[in-house]
Amino acid sequence: MAIGPVPWLGPLLLVSLWGSSAPASLLRRLGEHIQRFQESSGLGLSLDPGGVALPKEGWLEQQLDPFNASDRRSFLQRYWVNDQHWTSQDGPVFLHLGGEGSLGPGSVMRGHPATLAPVWGALVIGLEHRFYGLSIPAEGLDVAQLRFLSSRHALADVVSARVALSRLFNVSFSSPWLCFGGSYAGSLAAWARLKCRAAASAAFAEVERRLRAGSSAQAALRTELGACGSLGRAADQAELLGALQALVGGAVQYDGQAGAPLSVRQLCGLLLGDRDNCSSPAPYRGLRRAVQVVTHSLGQKCLSFSRAETVAQLKVTETQVAGVGDRQWLYQTCTEFGYCE
Ligand SMILES: *[C@@H]1O[C@H](CO)[C@@H](O)[C@H](O)[C@H]1NC(C)=O
Ligand SMILES: *[C@@H]1O[C@H](CO)[C@@H](O)[C@H](O)[C@H]1NC(C)=O
Ligand SMILES: *[C@@H]1O[C@H](CO)[C@@H](O)[C@H](O)[C@H]1NC(C)=O
Repeated sequence: MAIGPVPWLGPLLLVSLWGSSAPASLLRRLGEHIQRFQESSGLGLSLDPGGVALPKEGWLEQQLDPFNASDRRSFLQRYWVNDQHWTSQDGPVFLHLGGEGSLGPGSVMRGHPATLAPVWGALVIGLEHRFYGLSIPAEGLDVAQLRFLSSRHALADVVSARVALSRLFNVSFSSPWLCFGGSYAGSLAAWARLKCRAAASAAFAEVERRLRAGSSAQAALRTELGACGSLGRAADQAELLGALQALVGGAVQYDGQAGAPLSVRQLCGLLLGDRDNCSSPAPYRGLRRAVQVVTHSLGQKCLSFSRAETVAQLKVTETQVAGVGDRQWLYQTCTEFGYCE
């Protein structure tokens, strides 16, 4: 991963959700009409006295199927940039998400993102939705192609656009990214905020899939995760998932504390991954990397997950004056709090 993408932790602003009772097609036509009117009248565009206000148009190469690492087909996704108000690389980025229509220069010159940009010194970027406007894959709109059109795909585009645009504009790691959108795109903006959780869940789903896929997949998983022993037994598999869960939980619980091997930001960066490197699904690859970082930082040679070892440790009644009292804590959680794990 070249830049270590920052997770979607910035505050989110979700604007202009139309009443759901309005007929959908009317809503679309209305949006189209307003956009055309504004664009043809040049409202807000080229009015800068210096004559340099026109936003910049750019293209990002996006993966047609971001969920299939071996499918290397791509398409060009259009974006618009208004950097007039962006005075510092640490400033926020307002990402205006396109919905079910083309996205013009007005997306970064008018509306809430552009209005708020001067106050916040924000970089405003408009991202056209795949399969609309000029962001249509070369193979066209056949039904066979339309299976690459979904909100899931659109959100994957948002994540990879964020990585690519951060790099392109040298946006600081600490800059918050805020998604804006109206109607369908408003929902996308809200879902984009959940994306990091989705990446964690995808990584675990991939581990579980490999655990279920038979002994050779388990052996590969063991090597990839640097696990200490074989993964044949169900009890050990449960321990392994518990250890991975603790890794994620630990990043949250000890976020930013001295000595914590991974912050939430770093973990999410790993899970969201670098799409340029498609040898395996990004979230799973990120989780593997996170395991390496944590085991290395704990001074362990491998990731320990044996149920037998855990039970043996819990049976020890000799007192220990330092460290975590696992046996006592298990007793207390079982007798007092009820969250037996
Ligand atoms: C993934 O892409 C490869 C290469 O294009 C293709 O052969 C395979 O069928 C695809 N898998 C899925 C699930 O679409
Ligand atoms: C990117 O920004 C950093 C400061 O945030 C600066 O040190 C660096 O030179 C910039 N790089 C480019 C290529 O503009
Ligand atoms: C891609 O990932 C592999 C395995 O994690 C790594 O060895 C390789 O250096 C990466 N390539 C790039 C271009 O980052």
